[in-house]
Amino acid sequence: MVPAKRLFERVFGSRPTLTARAPGRIEVIGNHTDYNGGTVLGAAIDRSIRVAFRLRDDGEIALVSDFSPEVVRVPGRIVRQEGVAAWANYPLGVLLALEKRGLQRRRGFELAIASDLPSGAGLSSSAALELSSGLVLAKAYGLELDRRDLAIAAREAENEFVGMPCGILDQGVSAFGQRDRLVAIDCRGPDFSTVPTPPGVHFWIFNTHQKHALVESLYSTRHAECMEAVSLLRAFYPGICQLADVDSGQVTAVLGRLPDVLGRRARHVVEEIERVRLASCCFVDGDLAGAGRLLLESHESSRLLFENSTDELDDLVDRLKGRPGVHGARLTGGGFGGAVMAMTDEAFGPDEADAISAGYAARFGRPAEAIHVRTADGAALGED
Ligand code: GLA
Repeated sequence: MVPAKRLFERVFGSRPTLTARAPGRIEVIGNHTDYNGGTVLGAAIDRSIRVAFRLRDDGEIALVSDFSPEVVRVPGRIVRQEGVAAWANYPLGVLLALEKRGLQRRRGFELAIASDLPSGAGLSSSAALELSSGLVLAKAYGLELDRRDLAIAAREAENEFVGMPCGILDQGVSAFGQRDRLVAIDCRGPDFSTVPTPPGVHFWIFNTHQKHALVESLYSTRHAECMEAVSLLRAFYPGICQLADVDSGQVTAVLGRLPDVLGRRARHVVEEIERVRLASCCFVDGDLAGAGRLLLESHESSRLLFENSTDELDDLVDRLKGRPGVHGARLTGGGFGGAVMAMTDEAFGPDEADAISAGYAARFGRPAEAIHVRTADGAALGED
C-alpha cells in the first residue's frame, strides 16, 4: 500500500496537515440485525483505510485514492458522483452530514486515500473511508464530535447520500474497535460496548472476490422485506416498531399468516438476535465451541431463511466446518458474495488455510484469498 501521505504529496505537490486511519471490520455474529434494531458483535481488524488531508485556499474539493486513477474535483455545490468516481460519495456524504451538525466549510480541501482493505469482501471499506474522512474533516473545520456522533453521521451519509439503507454495524465497529476486544452494539440506542476476545481466538477471512452484480439492490430488497414484515406483524402485535420488538415465539405463532418469504426473513432476524445474545454469553464464559456452533447456525439461517448466501460462501463454510482447530465459520457482512470468516484456535494455521483455498479453487477454478486478521483499535487521527 502506498502511504496516504506519499500519495497526497505526489498528487497535490504539498504536505498534508492531517492524517487519520479507520479499520475495516468483521461481523462476528448478527447478520442483518442492525437496521432491525437488534444486537450485533463485530471486531475491528488490522486492515484499514488511511487518509491525508489539507485545507485549500479556494473552495474546491479534490479527492484521490489509490484504488482509482482519476482525481475527483468538486468545484462548487456538492453533487452525487457517478461511475468510476462513485467512491467519492462516501467522504462527500460525510461532509454533508457534518455540515448538518454545524461544520462550517469556508474553504475547500484535498484528501488522499490509501487502503489495504479489500473492497467488495464484506469487510466494510466504505465505513472505514467514512470514518477516516470524518475524523480529518471534523478536526480541520473545528467541529467537536465524539465517536458515537461520528459513527451516526457516517451511517447517515451512507443512508442519505450514498443511498444504502445500512445499519450502524460497520461504522460502529470501525469507531469503537479495540485490540483484543469485540464490539457489541445494541442498535436501538445505538449503544456501544466491548467484550474481551477470549485468549487464543484467531479470525480468518476467506475472500471469494465474487460479488453479485446486484448486491446493493439485493441488500435494499432485504431491508424493504424486513420493514414490510414489521408492518404485517403490527396487526398481531400493535405498537411494535421494528423486528427486534418481537421474539421468535411471537413470530412463529403467526407464521402461517405471513407471506412465506417475509416469514423467513423475520425468523432469521429474530432468531439471529437470540443467537447474538447466546454468543455474547459464550464469549464472556470462554466457551468457544458454543460460540462456534452459533456461527454455523447463523450461516445456515442466512442460507435458508435470509437467502443472502452464495454457492461459493456455502462451499467455504462446508470445508471449514469440523476441521481441526475451527470453532465455526459463517458469511460476514451483507452477503450475496464477499467473504466467509472463520473463528479458529492456533492449530489452524497458514497450511490449513491454504488447503481450504486449494479445495475451493479445484471446484470454482479460482482461489479464495485467505487472510489471517487480528483485532485492532478503532478509527484515530494522526496515523498514516
Ligand atoms: C452490511 C451493512 C451493515 C449490516 C451488514 C449485515 O455490512 O453495511 O449495516 O447490515 O451488511 O449484517
